[in-house]
Amino acid sequence: MPITAVTGSSSGIGAAVCAQLEKAGHTIIGIDRIADDKFTRIAADLATAEGRQNAINHVYEQSKGTLDGLVCCAGLGVTAPNCGLIVEVNYFGVTSLVTGLYDALAQGTQPSVVVIGSVAANQQVATPHPMALAMLDNDEALATQLANEDQQAHIAYAASKYAVTSWCRQTAVNWGPKGIRVNIIAPGAVETPLHQASKDDARYGEAVRNFVAPIGRNSEAAEIASVVSFLQSKQASFIHGSVIFVDGGMDAMMRANTF
Ligand code: NAI
Repeated sequence: MPITAVTGSSSGIGAAVCAQLEKAGHTIIGIDRIADDKFTRIAADLATAEGRQNAINHVYEQSKGTLDGLVCCAGLGVTAPNCGLIVEVNYFGVTSLVTGLYDALAQGTQPSVVVIGSVAANQQVATPHPMALAMLDNDEALATQLANEDQQAHIAYAASKYAVTSWCRQTAVNWGPKGIRVNIIAPGAVETPLHQASKDDARYGEAVRNFVAPIGRNSEAAEIASVVSFLQSKQASFIHGSVIFVDGGMDAMMRANTF
């Protein structure tokens, strides 16, 4: 029975991933800000170094040091309390956890990491933004400072998703020889509390509501979770370092000639 850790397990995409992986026979170790009696066994704040280390320690304890899967769903959108938090959770909350759990993944059976990125990674960050470069330099203080000075949540969000996607692809190259697969899913608009908050937002709501995928609707969290389930299965054994758009055609609409 595969043991899989899932961040953001209490809501939206993360909760849907837990439900589908559990159905597929995985033992789930959920991580979120507050523990619950469903999937979230570990309460940890992934915005802070202490919280991330706390999560890593508890995963080692609960998995007994062997992890077959890691799915990073925890994230903040444009309605986050401040722009620095977007960077802290969406980038450093992912890279620290993936790196910190390397030893457990290396012990796993056909281990696989999936990180939830976003179609937004390719929007607004045509050339790497200084904020994204600071993230890729692992300079959390500078990246959060730039985000908080800029106060443009959509830029911080896009930069965090661009940087985390680039980091995952670099990690895929390094970890391929170790047999640990790493992939990124880039969703479009998914009906979750995060997306609802964006639609209701005074600053961004209208733009978010008007940005509709060619397929003519937003996705349900389960439609993202089913792709995660596939990537975590043996059937996906040669998919590695890929960015998989699950976006109803949004990326094709924005960048038909770039692939
Ligand atoms: P959600 O708000 O429903 O779930 C996010 C989860 O992350 C929540 O349970 C929350 O408590 C957790 N989280 C946030 N900050 C945390 C922290 N500091 N420490 C621990 N846990 C924390 O959002 P949703 O939509 O399910 O988002 C999941 C991922 O999908 C995010 O990375 C988001 O950026 C990404 N995404 C979502 C899209 C959408 O339209 N909903 C589109 C593209 C990407």
